[in-house]
Order: sequence, then C-alpha cells, then structure tokens
Amino acid sequence: MEKVLVIDFGGQYNQLIARRVRDLNVYAEIKPYNKITVNEIKESGYIGIIFTGGPNSVYDEKSPHFDKNILDIGIPILGICYGCQLIAYMAGGTIESAGSISEYGKATLKISNSILYDDVPLTSTCWMSHSDYVSKLPAGFIATGETETCNSASFENTAKKVYGVQFHPEVTHTEYGKVIIKNFLYKICNAKGDWVVEDYSSVLIKEYRERLKGKKVICALSGGVDSAVAAKIIHEAIGNDLTCIFCDHGLLRLGEGDMVETEMKKRLNMNIVRVNSEDRFLNKLKGVVEPEQKRKIIGEEFIRVFEEEAKKIGSIYGLVQGTIYPDVIESGKGEAATIKSHHNVGGLPENLDFEEIIEPLRNLFKDEVRRIGKKLGLPDKIVNRQPFPGPGLAIRVIGEITKEKLEILKLADAIFTEEIEKSNIKELPNQYFAVLTNTKTVGVMGDYRTYGYTIALRAVITTDFMTADFAKIPYEILAKISNRITGEVQNVGRVVYDISSKPPATIEWE
Ligand code: XMP
Repeated sequence: MEKVLVIDFGGQYNQLIARRVRDLNVYAEIKPYNKITVNEIKESGYIGIIFTGGPNSVYDEKSPHFDKNILDIGIPILGICYGCQLIAYMAGGTIESAGSISEYGKATLKISNSILYDDVPLTSTCWMSHSDYVSKLPAGFIATGETETCNSASFENTAKKVYGVQFHPEVTHTEYGKVIIKNFLYKICNAKGDWVVEDYSSVLIKEYRERLKGKKVICALSGGVDSAVAAKIIHEAIGNDLTCIFCDHGLLRLGEGDMVETEMKKRLNMNIVRVNSEDRFLNKLKGVVEPEQKRKIIGEEFIRVFEEEAKKIGSIYGLVQGTIYPDVIESGKGEAATIKSHHNVGGLPENLDFEEIIEPLRNLFKDEVRRIGKKLGLPDKIVNRQPFPGPGLAIRVIGEITKEKLEILKLADAIFTEEIEKSNIKELPNQYFAVLTNTKTVGVMGDYRTYGYTIALRAVITTDFMTADFAKIPYEILAKISNRITGEVQNVGRVVYDISSKPPATIEWE
C-alpha cells in the first residue's frame, strides 16, 4: 500500500496534514520525530515524507531535530513551517528570528516556477504563522516563493527532491494549499492515489488484532456512530473477547435506549450488556448546574459503571471508546485550549482501572468514521445518525436536571425530530435537537395565565462540527413544530429558534 510519512514536530495542524493527504487518496501515517529512524523510514517503503510545523525554534537546545541523512535518501520531502526551517538548518542554511516582522495570518504569496506550484497563480493568499524564518538558504537550494516580509517563503532542491514552505498549505486559508499538497503527492512523489478512507478499517483491524491478542476488552457503546464503529473494528479484530456495555444513564432521547439495544444486538451480533442506571446518574447530578461539572460527573460515573461491569466479566485489559479527532482537539488534548471536556476524552477521571483506553478513531473526522462504518456493514440507521453527546440530555437541560425537566425535553425533542424527518427540507440539518432553557415565561392559554418553560430549537449545518452555521429551516415548518410543542407538551409556554453560528456559539448550549 502506497503511503506517506508525516513526521510530527509538535505543531497544531498535524492531523490536518494527514487528513489532507488522505483526502487526496494517499494513506498518511503520523509518527513523532523521536519514534522513527532514517533506516526504518528507508525500509518502510514510504513514497514521500512531510515534516510538520512545531512551536520551537531550531536553535533551541530542546527543539526537536532529526537525523540529517534523511535529506539524502532520495524519498521526496516537504517541510512545512518549522519543518521547512529544520530542512534549511540541517542542510546548512541560516534561520533567524523575524522579531517585529513575524507573520501571523494571511499573507500574499508570490511564486516562481516550481513543480510544487503547477496550477497555482503567480499571486495568491497563504496562511503564515511563524516568528523565525530562513534568512540564508543552504547550498543547492533556490527560493521559489516570497511574501512581503519573507524572501524564502518556499524553496527547493529538485535534485534531492526536498521542498520547504514557510506557510501552511494544510489550512483552508491557504487558497491553493490543496493544489500544492496534490502536486507534492502526485507530481513529486508520483503517487497513484489508489487509497480510500474505507481501507483504513483493515489497517486498524490488523493493528488491533496484533495488539489486543488474547486480551479481554469492553466497549462503551452509546448508540452513536462513533462508538458503534469503534466497537465494530475491535469486534472484527478480536471477536468475542470484546463485550459491549450500553450504559443507559436515563439522559437519552425518547425511546432511544430500547432502539439502541435492539438495533445493536440484532445487527452487530456482539456481546452487549445493557445497564439501566438512570437513578444513579440523576442522584449524582442533583443540584448541579455548572456544565463542566455535569460533564465531569457523568464521565466519572460512566467509568465507574464500566469498571463494575468489567469486574463481573473477569479480568479486563482495556476500555474501547469512540473518541474522534474533534473531541481530542476541543478537549484541549492537543495544542488547543479547552473549550469543553467531551466526556469521552477530557472528562475521564484520573484513577482509571483499565490498563489502556483504546481509541481506534482518535485520528479521524466524523465523515471518515461514517464511511468506514458503511464499509464495515453497519446499518444506515446507525451510520447516518446525527451525533449525540456522551453526557446526553444533561447538557441540554440548562441548569439543574430533574426527572420532570427531562420528560419535557424528551417530548419536545421527539416532536422536533419527527417534523424534520417528515419534512422535505432541501438541506437537512446535520444536527438538530431541543434544549430546555431555565427561563420560564408568561403566556396565555384559553383565558388563563400560564408560566411555563422555554424550549429552544437548535439545528446546524456543518461538515466537521468544529464550525457550524444555523440551519435555515423554513418558517412554516418552525411554526408547526412550535405549535405542536406548546400544544402537546405540558408546562412549555414558548419556543425559540437559535440563530447563532459556531463560533462564537458552540453547537450544544452547555
Ligand atoms: P460543541 O457543543 O462543542 O459540539 O460545538 C460539537 C459536537 O460535539 C458534540 N459534543 C459531544 N460529544 N461528548 C461527545 O461525545 C461530549 O461531551 C460532547 N459535547 C459536545 C456535539 O453534540 C456536537 O456534535
């Protein structure tokens, strides 16, 4: 299988680089700079190498470096940002601090002739984020691009097939970034491009078959696509050494617990244990209003339930979770700041009773996970389900959670879902749900004054769930949903529609 190696020097866009390569139908593998040697690279049959960015300066003693023989092995290399400075440094060039002319953000890139820039106009926008720059190119290298403040915004040594770009082609702000990466893969590395993300399942299955041989593991099944795909991969790898635990915390949508149990047992043919623990979770959540605290409590309680179930099964080595890449990033596990602790990552308690948390989808985006799920034969009902957060309705009941509030929310949400599903909206929202706000308002019904809850409807259009726009649901559909909710659900006096995008808002309210 043709593959590209992405050597990780600690930058924040590393997974994005791999994702871009995968999108261009070439398999990309990320390895930390200190976990692979030049000899291993030579023996592994990579068709190309990408050096990522990183927060350091090449002259810092502690900054990540690499064996400079890498430049002479004949495998094409593309260095990005820090990666490009490192190439220049290793080949004998000079790097300097840009001081007050550091570039952060969009810059105008002017290019000269280079195979890397086939189909790229002479002037375009690129995304810069650096405070050091290559001030003197090494012998044998020529500059191929410049910005206003950076003479060597890109450079190359075609004889050695080594290329460097100071800007970030992997981010969408670089207008022709995709073309540049494509040129590197197809015109410099001579890729055939016969890889599709669906093939990744076989890579994962093989890896976990070897890693988990003879070990018993459990999977935290939520009914959502991520945990179902993660479970399916591990099941393909180790069969009945996997037991799935479906913890019904009572914070699921109307009828969801039964649906998930039937669907998963019938379709997936796996060991599944359902644990009904509504009272236990509601007790722990009594009086809690702060969203992060809710998440931490639920994360902790989930793990305790799994530990107890694991003990019943016997000696369990690890816990499988459906964590995907945006969960990792948004929980602040990379370079990024914590936005919310997604319970399957950041909300995990410190004192876990498992030797390993197994997260086969950790590097993938939602759409990639769905494609893999489809390939593995999961039913559409599961593969195409909209995402549902681990803490469930707890983060959609704003403020304190009570049984009464949960019942109201479940009914309102079911009406919203039913109406959206039966409408023929042109662009179906990628995620939609009701929120029970903690605002009560005055209304009038018949001749009586009412004082009921406000339900907010949230529906978003998004591809990666990291940014989103509110869905433009036609007014007549919204009107019908509003009438039905206020008419059919007791104690609701008002319905509002959330018209915020992400950012600045997030998709969930808590
Ligand atoms: P936000 O609200 O952060 O949501 O814009 C982005 C996506 O993530 C889902 N989400 C979660 N998923 N555990 C999860 O598994 C969580 O704690 C969690 N919080 C938010 C959210 O539904 C949306 O799809």
